[in-house]
Amino acid sequence: LPLLFAALAFGYVLGSVPFGWLLTRAAGLGDIRSIGSNNIGATNVLRTGRKDLAAATLLCDALKGTVAVLIAAMWGPEAAIAAALGAFIGHLFPVWLGFRGGKGVATFIGLLIAFSWPSAIAFAAIWLTTAWLTRFSSLSALVAAAATPLILWLGKPASVSVLFLILAVLIFVKHHANIRRLMAGTETKIGSKTRQTE
Ligand code: G3P
Repeated sequence: LPLLFAALAFGYVLGSVPFGWLLTRAAGLGDIRSIGSNNIGATNVLRTGRKDLAAATLLCDALKGTVAVLIAAMWGPEAAIAAALGAFIGHLFPVWLGFRGGKGVATFIGLLIAFSWPSAIAFAAIWLTTAWLTRFSSLSALVAAAATPLILWLGKPASVSVLFLILAVLIFVKHHANIRRLMAGTETKIGSKTRQTE
């Protein structure tokens, strides 16, 4: 049990590094939380007009999850799951930003790469198809996240599928404002820089 707690804490520390906030700040763009949806994720970094920073945010927020799991996996499969949960909670609720972090989509993909890279490809395919059809980043993430536990159920241990079910539920919780906007027909489309304060 101490090992699992250590893995959870280790994951949390890595996951809580807010790359979107750090990269935009380092680029002199101010606080990303005062732009667009106020979120620290790649979709909102794109609203600054800096595609390079948005791509870097997506990559770093994903890889911190992948790295946390791959390192913790050396301590066993349960530690890998604990580290994944820790990293995700760290990204969503980073102590450094008053526990107000991101919505988890990039980190979800990074964790998925570590547990099942074919499932990560399936996630990306579902995300891209939905985004191509609707231009909504939030809706694409919700559809892909909901599908992931089912995809994992086909070929992975139940523990992995249940882990991603919990993460998918957290993604839905964090997207409550997006879901409200989607239903009201006021959600911002990808590439649009319209200010939309939550
Ligand atoms: O992954 C975040 C995306 O689904 C929504 O981001 O900034 O439009 O709230 P945002």
